[in-house]
Amino acid sequence: MAVREILKMGNPILLKEAEQVRELDTPELHELIKDMMDTMIAAEGAGLAAPQIGESIQLVIFGIEKNERYPEAEEVPFTVLINPIIKPLTEDKEDDWEGCLSLPGMRGVVPRYKAINYKGFDQYGNKIDRDVEGFHARVVQHECDHLLGILYPMRIENMKLFGFHDEIFVE
Ligand code: NI
Repeated sequence: MAVREILKMGNPILLKEAEQVRELDTPELHELIKDMMDTMIAAEGAGLAAPQIGESIQLVIFGIEKNERYPEAEEVPFTVLINPIIKPLTEDKEDDWEGCLSLPGMRGVVPRYKAINYKGFDQYGNKIDRDVEGFHARVVQHECDHLLGILYPMRIENMKLFGFHDEIFVE
């Protein structure tokens, strides 16, 4: 178990398409997921993609109980998602603020599909197949974008709604 360094935007690994995971339920995979959990919890994140700790494979974790970063956020069950496929269930998108552990201190308004289906596998090889909406759908879209080499600023449509958290959310 170990908290790993989180790569920041500008690192070329974050811009690569991640490789499919070929073998599930291996000791190496379980070890990596433990590191990702430790790293996400230490950073108080809602999700983490393997490329963010330098492993360019199709693996993300996410989940929110009650989190200081997202006090208003709905709960999302803790999930390990491997080789994901996302399909929008509606054309409708909605705007909301996002942050990312690879852009510390920054926030931006990103349009995301309101409702999606996502499929994939957990670390043991069990199938995952869920229809979700709202914040859960947003988190999955954000994390899975990391596997395509896409960071949320690349999805921002109005760059005036992008900046440092401390400047934007002035009390
Ligand atoms: Ni992120």
